Amino acid sequence: MSSKTATPAERAAELRRILDYHLYRYHVLDDPEVSDAEYDRLFDELVALEEANPDLVTPDSPTQRAGAEPSAEFAKSEHLSPMGSLEKVTDENGLRKWADDVRKRLDSDEPVAYVTEPKIDGSAVSLVYENGAFVRGATRGDGIRGEDVSPNLRTIGAIPLRMQLAEGEVPSSVLEVRGEIYLPLSGFRALNERLAAEGKKTAPNPRNAAAGSLRQKNPQITASRPLSIWVHGLGHREGVDFEGHFEALEWLRSRGFRTNPFAGRHESIEEVAEVCREWERRRVELDYEIDGIVIKVDSLAQQRRLGSLHQRPRWARAYKWAPLTAQTKLLNIHIRVGRTGNLNPWAQLEPVEVGGVTISTATLHNEEDINRKDIRKGDLVIVQRAGDVIPQIVGPAGPHKRGTKRFRMPAKCPLCEAEVVKPEGEAMHRCPNRACPSRGLETLIHWVMAAMDIEGVGEQFVRGFWKEGLLRSMPDLYRITAEQLREYEGFGEISAAKAVDAIQRSKEQPFLRVLYGLNIPQVGWVTAQNLARHFGSVDRLISASQEEIQEVEGIGPDRAEAIAEWFSDEENRRLVEELRDLGLTFEAGEAERPVEGPLTGKTYVITGTLERWSREEARAALEAKGAKVGDSVSKKTAGLVVGEEPGSKLEKAKRVGVELLDEKAFERLIA
Ligand code: IVH
Repeated sequence: MSSKTATPAERAAELRRILDYHLYRYHVLDDPEVSDAEYDRLFDELVALEEANPDLVTPDSPTQRAGAEPSAEFAKSEHLSPMGSLEKVTDENGLRKWADDVRKRLDSDEPVAYVTEPKIDGSAVSLVYENGAFVRGATRGDGIRGEDVSPNLRTIGAIPLRMQLAEGEVPSSVLEVRGEIYLPLSGFRALNERLAAEGKKTAPNPRNAAAGSLRQKNPQITASRPLSIWVHGLGHREGVDFEGHFEALEWLRSRGFRTNPFAGRHESIEEVAEVCREWERRRVELDYEIDGIVIKVDSLAQQRRLGSLHQRPRWARAYKWAPLTAQTKLLNIHIRVGRTGNLNPWAQLEPVEVGGVTISTATLHNEEDINRKDIRKGDLVIVQRAGDVIPQIVGPAGPHKRGTKRFRMPAKCPLCEAEVVKPEGEAMHRCPNRACPSRGLETLIHWVMAAMDIEGVGEQFVRGFWKEGLLRSMPDLYRITAEQLREYEGFGEISAAKAVDAIQRSKEQPFLRVLYGLNIPQVGWVTAQNLARHFGSVDRLISASQEEIQEVEGIGPDRAEAIAEWFSDEENRRLVEELRDLGLTFEAGEAERPVEGPLTGKTYVITGTLERWSREEARAALEAKGAKVGDSVSKKTAGLVVGEEPGSKLEKAKRVGVELLDEKAFERLIA
């Protein structure tokens, strides 16, 4: 059926089917077939069609997801079958005792199989489908009656408004689908950042944030939160039946519902125990919080025989773990001065075990953030390990001790004593001294790791030899000999020779890397690349005027001035000459020529730390597809790749409406 010959009604139905399918690929299979732009194009076509033909609008049309008006109150909604809750066990003994009890109650030698599922720390909902269409959904409430939050649920793309039916299948007349609404950790952090920036109260954890988002009176607000769902069972059902719970989960998945991929079926309680052990370790890998494993007897016939007690099924248990948060004392707030002079505060904590890992430090972002969270040296604080390895301080665990003071950034740089500045509108304090030793050290680290990418020579190497006084500048690096290295612990004949060889080989790195490594103010990777392409050699760049530099793509007056100033500095010129004499590349070559690819003409920006990619690798991957990688976000940015602990670029991207890509989306983009 083509759009040219189809009637509007036919085309609208076709578009709905296509859009539903793409939402399913995106949210349920996590494997989209089309770009967001293509999806938007189809969506816009349907909107236009429905606007021209209002009688074609159906309640289950994808256009109706965010359309509802704010409501004053949620109506009460009675569940067709009660929503129970789970009895918990906290260790393997409890688990085995329960399995024994199940066996006794079944009173026979028949085998018992179990299904394990992550226990999602979110907000329980029941969704009602009539003849395959979503008609309403409610929170758990007291298990008998919940609140009808249908308009909000409709905004969640992962909830199908229509079930996917098999060829010729007659849908169940009434079906209750049960699941857990949750907020991914990345979304939780972004939400809290936004709330804090707007001066609003932040959410203490993802569960509260999800529950709060679900109970918004204005569905537009719910729509702005990246909520999702894991479906984990059925309530009342007509016309469908299953032998086992696992089979029901598979059926739900095939009908378009998002079921958790880590659900499994096991023949013995020992296998179940193994799963609980495994996920206690692995839970930090997930982008959502789980607080345990739910274990269910698989056979529905056995479930019926076991029954429930006070709305708690005897056929299921929640194996709950200790939370990923802990309390400890904030011993001190230290400052580390970065390569560009930023003063980065970090927390020294009394060591505490959180989810199996001992934590003694945590990142703090800046003065404002510390005071917004109201944490002070000497406080008992709540620390949280969530999803990533870098622990966060959530806030104080109680009232401040007498005599504690609000945190203030030092007025002087802790290393060089220069007066600290805080540029208007920026969150970070900076040391303005370009000769500050920390910058020398951080520049060297930047040189070996980011710019030259010298194998086996990293931060530890630089810090160690900086301390020894062997390494104070980039040229020093190229004068280090294997004999010198061998005098230090950790270096043998082979490793010393290898390190020196890697250092020497880095002389072959292209001009743009050298430029990037020089740590010229406001010269990130893209600017270095544009400068290298435009001028072709360092000599031409040195002799260029500010006006000539300004002709380079993406360089405004401020940046041009900073670059011209850097190259006019006597000491900097000496550095360039010295590096050139040592054999580093100061002429543009093959590497500076742009690549043609599917992303040619698009510029992406990266913020925060990705889990599986270094900045360098991510950049190289984008460039290999023809994209440019920019330093700052603007309206023209095609997308912002957002890692852990994103910076202010994220706020800007949201303000100007730039597409956000998490690590998965980034990987899809370059795949
Ligand atoms: S099954 C009879 N499966 O945990 C209750 N619940 O008290 C059957 N939860 O309110 C619930 N993940 O909202 C089930 N995979 C999962 C779950 C899960 C989270 C929640 C559920 C319930 C609470 C248990």
